Amino acid sequence: MTAIRVLDTAEAEARLGELADILVDAVAHGASVNFMAGFTRDEGRVFWRNQLSGLAAGDKHLFVADDGARLVATALLMDAPQPNAPHRAEVGKMLVLSTVRRQGLGRRLLAAVEDAARAAGRTLLMLDTESGSAGDRLYRACGWIEIGRVPGHAFRPEGRLAETTLFYKQL
Ligand SMILES: CC(C)(COP(=O)(O)OP(=O)(O)OC[C@H]1O[C@@H](n2cnc3c(N)ncnc32)[C@H](O)[C@@H]1OP(=O)(O)O)[C@@H](O)C(=O)NCCC(=O)NCCS
Repeated sequence: MTAIRVLDTAEAEARLGELADILVDAVAHGASVNFMAGFTRDEGRVFWRNQLSGLAAGDKHLFVADDGARLVATALLMDAPQPNAPHRAEVGKMLVLSTVRRQGLGRRLLAAVEDAARAAGRTLLMLDTESGSAGDRLYRACGWIEIGRVPGHAFRPEGRLAETTLFYKQL
């Protein structure tokens, strides 16, 4: 069975290519996750390399799904840096390889992120996603609450401006 686990800094650095593959696959399949069409594996490696210092510092936490042969999903838990928000964190880069979607991995990954956040005293989580996207459906299915919507918040990979929905969840 595919395992959900935390990836430490050293393993994340060693597996930058696999992490990049998951991000490239998401963009190539139309996910609005900050990047535009044509996003490359090298750019994906840069994105993940830029997360390593946060992982090492302990204010970012990388969760993955590992099928034993390769990594097939990612999620980032990012602690709020503000002194008045030691109880808050953000979730991002919730990505499941397109070939293994709708098998429950997203739900399991999100549950692992929430469990770890709760255990660390981060009891308020926030995130945003494209309105109506698979992510939007996943978060609602997992009990996240809509805060509101921002029209024209971000460009989709192919260039169409789309609405974003903001969510929170109290743990
Ligand atoms: C969003 C994403 C992570 C979901 O991962 P997943 O492994 O397919 O999700 P799950 O199989 O755990 O789905 C759990 C529930 O979420 C909802 N859901 C997930 N994808 C859905 C979709 N495409 N359409 C409708 N509902 C969906 C369903 O309620 C589903 O339960 P069900 O399968 O029993 O109906 C995945 O589609 C993905 O990586 N998308 C591209 C990247 C992205 O947009 N990420 C979010 C950005 S913040």
